Amino acid sequence: MFSFLKNVIVTAGEICVREQQLFTRSEVDFKGRKDLVTVVDKKVEHFIVEQIQTTWPSHGIFGEETGRTNLSSDYLWIIDPIDGTTSYVHQQPFYSVSIALQHLGKTICGAVYLPALNELFFADSTSGAFLNQQSIKVSSTDLLVNSVMATGFACLRAGREHNNLHYLGTILPDLRDIRRCGSAAMDLCYVACGRFDGFWEMALNLYDVAAGAFIVQQAGGIVTDFHGSNTFPDNGIIASNPALHHKLLPYFTEKKS
Ligand code: 2AM
Ligand code: CA
Repeated sequence: MFSFLKNVIVTAGEICVREQQLFTRSEVDFKGRKDLVTVVDKKVEHFIVEQIQTTWPSHGIFGEETGRTNLSSDYLWIIDPIDGTTSYVHQQPFYSVSIALQHLGKTICGAVYLPALNELFFADSTSGAFLNQQSIKVSSTDLLVNSVMATGFACLRAGREHNNLHYLGTILPDLRDIRRCGSAAMDLCYVACGRFDGFWEMALNLYDVAAGAFIVQQAGGIVTDFHGSNTFPDNGIIASNPALHHKLLPYFTEKKS
């Protein structure tokens, strides 16, 4: 199953790279971002779903484009064909393919592939977390002032009245710096390998975070919602190393002005 997942996700990433070379920025502005993204998203997800259904026809699937199928199966594949679609259409490398596999509601493995950077993040419940062949773990930074974190603004596109600008405004002054790459799956993997010390976002979907959150946990990190519980991403998501998580949580639980 693990090698199947790795092979499928790398081939899906190769499709993304090929398709990205077929359009330009001006075409994106002319035809509209959404149409282009939808075509490639569907193509990549269709490929992944076809591979799963050929190999395990009874397994359940939850994909951004496909929706949910075969839900009575013990197994559920959770797929985001292109996470970071704005980066993708703007010819940037900050996008990923994300696939997680759950058994009886528990994630047993997850992979996030960044094809433009040739980085495959993978974790399973027994071996830990890896970047390509290398074992990875979260950073040991224990001071907010020394930490670089990531966030995103899915809430703005979702039209939420209560959005992330408040949290950004209160947290950023206490950090070394912030990064905003546009792929939640990638941000989570960067937390897992210690390049980022933490990540938070609101209004994400399960397929944005299922694989990345699992990879963070297998790399020794903590992932919760904004209340410190495990109902992420529905009530927001915070991921960080264990030394920083309890320092980050109060920004979300206390009303800071
Ligand atoms: P996507 O590229 O697959 O849409 C960016 O902050 C992150 O939020 C990305 O992972 C992006 O995934 C995700 N996202 C999910 N829903 C979104 C929304 N309504 N608006 C913007 N980004 C969204
Ligand atoms: Ca996504």
